[in-house]
Amino acid sequence: MKRIVLIGYMGAGKTTVGRQLALDLGLNFYDLDWYIEMRYHTTVAQIFAEKGEEGFREIERNMLHEVAEFEDVVLSCGGGTPCFFDNMEYLNTLAETVYLKCAPEVLAMHLKMGKVERPLIKGKSDEELLAYIKESLAKREPYYSKAKHVLDVSLLDNYEKIKTTIKLLKDTLGIEEGKAPLCS
Ligand code: S3P
Repeated sequence: MKRIVLIGYMGAGKTTVGRQLALDLGLNFYDLDWYIEMRYHTTVAQIFAEKGEEGFREIERNMLHEVAEFEDVVLSCGGGTPCFFDNMEYLNTLAETVYLKCAPEVLAMHLKMGKVERPLIKGKSDEELLAYIKESLAKREPYYSKAKHVLDVSLLDNYEKIKTTIKLLKDTLGIEEGKAPLCS
């Protein structure tokens, strides 16, 4: 049974890396935000608008408990998932957790280019965005750092680098080329 969970700030590339890693290892891929949207037939932005962040975090925790029990999967969490309730401890008991670490300036660049509507950063100017990322990343870092593995993905900006990152990730997780991953 294999279970790999990717965590990290918005814009770090959790979904891009997770999807590619799952393909590479022949595992199913889940993105927690997409799973929430599918189960609730609405968008994360709409949930924030209707129930506020507190309401979203409750839903997020409940959905995490559903999806994190699946076997033979790579799961990408939302940027805030590890920082609420006992979500990080819960994940560490179930899976190989990996923190995709990324520099604030790179996160800001990815988020500016991104098409997904992210309620927490909506309407911010470039300066406000960078200041917000720096401040909230500092608060989140202690939670992210509880992951069993850390991988710096600050240089993840083209397909070749994604492939290199997957290779590094497999090394970090102790997965040899062509072999099934060893997980808890
Ligand atoms: C959030 C990150 C988002 C999404 C929600 C809140 C956060 O996921 O869960 O908008 O608190 O950082 P991504 O990290 O996939 O953008």
